[in-house]
Amino acid sequence: MKILLLGYMGSGKSTVGQHLAEVLNIPFHDLDQEITNKTGKTISEIFKNKGELFFRKLEFQILNDVLESKNSFVMALGGGTPCYGNVMQQLKERNDVLTIFLNVSLPELTERLFPERKNRPLIAHLETKELLHDFIRKHLFERNFYYSQARLRIPANEPARTVVSTIILQLF
Ligand code: S3P
Repeated sequence: MKILLLGYMGSGKSTVGQHLAEVLNIPFHDLDQEITNKTGKTISEIFKNKGELFFRKLEFQILNDVLESKNSFVMALGGGTPCYGNVMQQLKERNDVLTIFLNVSLPELTERLFPERKNRPLIAHLETKELLHDFIRKHLFERNFYYSQARLRIPANEPARTVVSTIILQLF
């Protein structure tokens, strides 16, 4: 089974994904990391030098490469991966893929993302918590349409280990 974690930036996809893969004893992949490994550039550099559209095409291509070339794994997608092109539709049609949405509340996302926003090109320019909060609220409103199409929806405000236990209970 290919388990794909989706959700907004800061929803814990990478941390939860690593723990989950450990518990299930299967490999973990991080799509952002795969993109960085392939290009030798950070996500911020790609956005800055090539623009978001280029990034989205690359992200789509590398997602498909991983899906085709590997067997059982857990993978953390980028926050925007399921929201472009027909990614979500394509994932829903595959019977070797289980999509899991990590659902974190708006106040919790704001708290988690404010101190580390500089590494994230879409929110790096937001100078106050209020601006960040308003940005996330609007963005989530648009993206929830895609996230809510995941097969499982897991409340994920809690620490990663708790979230993993919740996922495991749903899996077995
Ligand atoms: C993005 C999320 C990031 C990264 C890029 C764009 C988004 O991944 O792919 O900065 O559009 O939400 P994380 O969700 O892992 O931070």
